[in-house]
Amino acid sequence: MILLGIETSCDETAAAFVDDTRRILAERMLLQAELHQPFGGVVPEIAARAHLQHIDRLIKAAMGGADLSLADIDGVAATGGPGLIGGVIVGVMTAKAIAAVRNVPFIAINHLEGHALTARLTHDIPFPYLLLLVSGGHCQLLVTEGVGRYHRLGTTIDDAAGEAFDKVAKMLGLGYPGGPVIEKCARKGDPRRFNLPRPMKGRAGCNFSFSGLKTAVRQTLQRLDIITPQTIADLAAAFQAAVTDVLIDRTRKAVKIFRTGWPDGRALVVSGGVAANLLLREHLTMLARAEDLLFIAPPLRLCTDNAVMIAWAGVERLRIGFYDSLDFKPRPRWPLDPLASQREKSSSLDAFKSE
Ligand code: KG4
Ligand code: ZN
Repeated sequence: MILLGIETSCDETAAAFVDDTRRILAERMLLQAELHQPFGGVVPEIAARAHLQHIDRLIKAAMGGADLSLADIDGVAATGGPGLIGGVIVGVMTAKAIAAVRNVPFIAINHLEGHALTARLTHDIPFPYLLLLVSGGHCQLLVTEGVGRYHRLGTTIDDAAGEAFDKVAKMLGLGYPGGPVIEKCARKGDPRRFNLPRPMKGRAGCNFSFSGLKTAVRQTLQRLDIITPQTIADLAAAFQAAVTDVLIDRTRKAVKIFRTGWPDGRALVVSGGVAANLLLREHLTMLARAEDLLFIAPPLRLCTDNAVMIAWAGVERLRIGFYDSLDFKPRPRWPLDPLASQREKSSSLDAFKSE
């Protein structure tokens, strides 16, 4: 079974062909970072236009490189949301058109499910597993119970971790995207020079918050009389250490819940762009080792947004008979676990009643 996957939900235009033996047959990607760099963040209109301009060419180039044609595919998967709606529409319309012409199934993939299932492409692990999904748009702890079955243990109540990296990098004048530049700059810095807060650390539940940390960086900057490159490096290091500390604390909490609620679970998986961060990886490795869990971090190029994960999620869905109608409407918001907020509300109500 060969699936074409299309990803256009943010600032990467990507197409990939993957088969059900877990082989990546072809892949092409256009990074739009340069287009958005002058604005310090992704501009939805610019992104959508660039997707429209390049997606057909990228699909063709991917096929050409692997000696494939549209006659070889058994289905077309595209990110159906959540994401920047203009871009999602471009990907979904392209996929539907190909599916209609070739008379093969169209599969709308939740972008987060793409990230969540990548570990099964790279490591062939069984369900259930605990997933820390940390990207520019999302920061969640999820139990991946099966294809289409996710149990959210925690989410951010304000910014996503990657978003915090991006905003702090802008404040420090380091450019965009923030994660890689902060990580590089932090190597020259002393994380102990500035004492930044660790929001939510030690709190009940597994939720995250990063806006207070971001504000603390801004206030620290405002209080300084002289800002040298060393000051910037020290602040970058302190910020990275604080984010890592919070992510590890919340993940440790989730591991405890996972252990009791899903006793068959054996693995901790990290995914999303922030999973590229080496300090975070190092600490997650230690946490998993201490908890006797297998730690899985897919290769970096499959942690950040890509079309391989969308094609693979298409394989996972199609082989159990899940596909979508051509009436599918792109969804700017699309929670992986729609019952999560309901559950969180009722559990905080229970806590309130028992107080
Ligand atoms: O998964 P992704 O490519 O796109 C989204 O779906 O958001 O993640 C991009 C995010 C950006 O916020 C970027 O700053 C962050 O991942 N990122 C990193 C690193 N590399 C990318 N954050 C921390 N350290 C890194 N090395
Ligand atoms: Zn993503």
